[in-house]
Amino acid sequence: GPQSFMDDDSFLDEEIRRANEELFNDNLKPALQIFDSLILKFPGHPGALYGKAKVLDRLSTKYKNNQMLQDAIEAYRVVLKLEDKADDKIYREAGERCVQLLRFGGMLAQAVPIHRNLIRRFPNDPEVRNQLAVTYLMQNRYAEAKYILHHTLMRWRDNGFAQVHYGFILKVHDNDLKSAVALLREGIASEANGTQDGRFYFTLGDALYRLGEKEEAMEVYKKGADLKLFPSALQRSLYNVNGLKAQPFWTPEETTYEKELSILQRNWELIQKEGLTAMKIPGYYEDEAESLRDKGNWKQLELFARGYRIEKNCAKTPLTCNIIETFPAARTCKRGQVKFSIMQPGTHVWPHCGPTNCRLRAHLGLVVPPGAKIRVGTEERTWKAGEWLIFDDSFEHEVWHNGISPRLVLIVDVWHPELTEDQRENLSRI
Ligand code: LMR
Ligand code: MN
Repeated sequence: GPQSFMDDDSFLDEEIRRANEELFNDNLKPALQIFDSLILKFPGHPGALYGKAKVLDRLSTKYKNNQMLQDAIEAYRVVLKLEDKADDKIYREAGERCVQLLRFGGMLAQAVPIHRNLIRRFPNDPEVRNQLAVTYLMQNRYAEAKYILHHTLMRWRDNGFAQVHYGFILKVHDNDLKSAVALLREGIASEANGTQDGRFYFTLGDALYRLGEKEEAMEVYKKGADLKLFPSALQRSLYNVNGLKAQPFWTPEETTYEKELSILQRNWELIQKEGLTAMKIPGYYEDEAESLRDKGNWKQLELFARGYRIEKNCAKTPLTCNIIETFPAARTCKRGQVKFSIMQPGTHVWPHCGPTNCRLRAHLGLVVPPGAKIRVGTEERTWKAGEWLIFDDSFEHEVWHNGISPRLVLIVDVWHPELTEDQRENLSRI
């Protein structure tokens, strides 16, 4: 064979080049064969092991197969176990790709030791530390994420990526608006990789608004919209399907669900009764948990969420839940909820946008005293008992209740009517 004319090194180089060419041309089987036979001949060779891992990685993406994902992760781990025998480039790429696959597979805890090894190997590179912070954030381990970001910023004061992530946590988790604004502002202005993200524009604008800096907030929103991080300055949802009809308010006819909506409407007094009765049982209605409230008291009783029926709550409001069961666009809405919403007088809800343009939010008025109103986009409206008020909550909306007795509505999220069956089935849950 050709190897008799060459030393091992040039044979290896040539074979790896050939295998990478197959890989580049998406000929995964031949590439795998070459790497496998190299590994047999030269056990523990970093380039061959890394090449094999890349092929398995590509196979798992191509066939969307879980066992293949596991195999690819394992193959990268084999490379990482070589430690100093693998050069910096291979070690780093294997580690970073292994982390990405573990994140993709939801195996976040297993990624942490890999991050730790990368940090040990590349102690002077803030990026490997930032990636550990991202994994912690994905796990909702805010304290640990903060700790590592804080230390990164002590040493790399101007690291934009660390700034936006630290600022994001300070706002969303700690409600420390002032520090959040300072960090998000500077991090976004750095335009560093990973900083031009809708979440950071969204969060900076919100923090500015709440601090009374409304003009700067609007500028941030306009810039985010210009960068196409969300559909528009007033429609700041982050999980979107492009091209869906977008307007603040909708009529029942426009939703195409007129029939199902009118069944609920005809039963509004029954629904009202169930919502009010459930209020008397302590522990069912829960405080609004997204810190959208400026002041006041606002509680909700969830019947369906993310496409799941919540049995414990439906047991208290069976008729309402049974009607929803006959309303597929609500029942199957994986990007929304069905819930009673009770708002006490003296409540103000900060302007905010829902997470997705894939749903419309229909409110059935149940108990509607004077003094309650909602702004969606630039228009204010009020509810009426027994009537629908339908809006697209991806548009900025704000709620006030300045009356003297509680307001109760049933909130029914429905799929945006322009989404196909296929999209309704395959969109991720929110
Ligand atoms: C909202 O969706 O933010 C509010 O409109 C809910 C409510 O109870 O008014
Ligand atoms: Mn809302």
